Amino acid sequence: MANNNSKRKNRTNYPLILATVLTTAAVAGAIFLVLTALGHNDTHISDEYSNTPNQSAVSESTESKNNGSSLSEPDNSGIDETSQSYEEYIGVEYAIDITEWEQYIEPENADAYLILVNKTHPLASDYVPANMVDVVYTRKDGRATQKMVYTAEKALQAFLLEAAEYGVTDVTVTSAYRSYSKQSEIFNDNVNKNLSKFATLEECEEYVSTFSARPGTSEHQTGLVCDMHNLSSAGAAFGNTPEAKWLAQNAHRFGFIMRYAEDKTDITRIIYEPWHFRYVGRKAATEMYLSNLCLEEYLENR
Ligand code: DAL
Ligand code: ZN
Repeated sequence: MANNNSKRKNRTNYPLILATVLTTAAVAGAIFLVLTALGHNDTHISDEYSNTPNQSAVSESTESKNNGSSLSEPDNSGIDETSQSYEEYIGVEYAIDITEWEQYIEPENADAYLILVNKTHPLASDYVPANMVDVVYTRKDGRATQKMVYTAEKALQAFLLEAAEYGVTDVTVTSAYRSYSKQSEIFNDNVNKNLSKFATLEECEEYVSTFSARPGTSEHQTGLVCDMHNLSSAGAAFGNTPEAKWLAQNAHRFGFIMRYAEDKTDITRIIYEPWHFRYVGRKAATEMYLSNLCLEEYLENR
């Protein structure tokens, strides 16, 4: 009996060892997962451009704003009117000092910038927006300096200054305000180029109007729009570039919307145009962005 007991004492306790090993592995695995999640929560657009600004260019005031602030995930419920600031709500700090730009990004008379212009909401042929200024970021390739409404142009400057902080440095404005007569010229030119492909003029005009608005129906006439990209000419391919992705994801922070989204062509009746940005003010732009609404849908539900 004593012999049996001593044999039992000396016998290796395999179930206990196995349980210990499994428990240790489970704890180590959990720690690893937590550390991995903490260390890699920034989404990179590409190797070249990231969602984080060049830290060397971040101003001291921005760094202090970052201190201790929690970055919350935006949801789809629109702006919380009770939140103290947009930044608190959206959880994205600006890399540039936004102080001087805020009055343009979030204008007091915001509704004045919600004008709807589309195939069924044309502007009068003599409509010319007031208060237009030169677009600082007009592409310098010999074209005329483009014009935009003052508030929108200022907001655009802030947008592209911020973009530069994230490495998006070569996007320039190729077209902004277009008069009624300029729209006629562009539309007729496109019709003439495409006429041979269609049986009737009406069919050709209908086709052209999906990418070149009929006179009076281009929101470029509002002075609140710019086409901007880094290609020699605008094309859907721009949408695949890291620059276009950054612009699309951040436009709302500066009061702009990417007006003609790929998933809204049945409503806008305009092809996907990742280069066409429309100023509407930050509140409306953010609500549209967070709820994935195009301008037509947003104004209908307002
Ligand atoms: N390309 C847009 C639809 C315009 O002509 O205004
Ligand atoms: Zn455009």
